[in-house]
Amino acid sequence: MSSMWFAVLSSNEVRRKPVGVRRLGRDLVFWRDSLGKVYALEDFCVHRRARLSAGKVINDRIQCPFHGFEYDGNGRVRLIPALGKNYKVPDRFRVNSYPVYEKNNIIWLWFGEGEPEKEPKFFDDIDEDFAYAEFRELWNVPFPRAVENQLDVMHLPFVHRTTIGRGNRTLVHGPVVKWIDEDSFIFYVFNEVDRGQRVKRPEELSGEESRVYLEFIFPNLWQNHISEGTRVVAFFVPVDRQKTMIYLRFYVKMTGLKPVDSIIARLSMPLNRIILHQDRRVVETQERDIRKDVLVQGDLPIMEFRKRLYKEKKLIDFLFGGGQ
Ligand code: FES
Ligand SMILES: [Fe+2]
Repeated sequence: MSSMWFAVLSSNEVRRKPVGVRRLGRDLVFWRDSLGKVYALEDFCVHRRARLSAGKVINDRIQCPFHGFEYDGNGRVRLIPALGKNYKVPDRFRVNSYPVYEKNNIIWLWFGEGEPEKEPKFFDDIDEDFAYAEFRELWNVPFPRAVENQLDVMHLPFVHRTTIGRGNRTLVHGPVVKWIDEDSFIFYVFNEVDRGQRVKRPEELSGEESRVYLEFIFPNLWQNHISEGTRVVAFFVPVDRQKTMIYLRFYVKMTGLKPVDSIIARLSMPLNRIILHQDRRVVETQERDIRKDVLVQGDLPIMEFRKRLYKEKKLIDFLFGGGQ
């Protein structure tokens, strides 16, 4: 079975107080027990539907602010105060709970069928010695549009003409996409100034690697491998069918001193923000439905993403289905 862990939050968003967020079309409450373990439950109390995220955590349970029902991490009500502490709460007093996993300061939410069999994947080549800075913003675009923008190697000289797309390299050889496992691929970029030369097909470039390359882990993690010591990582989180929260991190391991790297990371954020806003200006104008697109060779990473995406029935139902 494929792993359908969605990176949905940055760890620092869930502190001592419960937080209510909308993710994948669901209203969820995230909270931590006294050991710091994270839980995700449906945000509406089973009793009369108050928001659990407006409540608080006591004794490793989340307490509804309305009549004090207490829930454990599995979503079961363990105490109904009005019925007394010796009352045995029937099983029907429960809300949905969702498996979560936390590492690399990211919280993942399970969106697969059944129970997770393996932990979510992060980029092997980003270790604890990297410092990072982060920002996030909500885009008014559906999830596939947000992802595909970062898989797009053809937009650079147009959208980012004044920043990372300088040099007018409009001609796109390949690109070369290399799957690493069933959920992740690397893609190499070979853009050039158009001097009338023939565009190379990906097969003609196989085995060649570009200095800068990118990596995608399905469903929603992306890395731009700028150099050994500097990376941009993004995760694209479906809020609902129409909106996507973009998390962008700049990772730095340059000086051997993490606090210094951390300052460098923070100083580079304004530029990263400018670049992302160059994307946003155009991507928010795209028609929302991806299914009418007519793609060209340079869109190969996008095609590979879609191949993988269309295997996930539950996600496709969420993105294109009739409900929600
Ligand atoms: S609505 Fe939550 S306890 Fe009544
Ligand atoms: Fe871009």
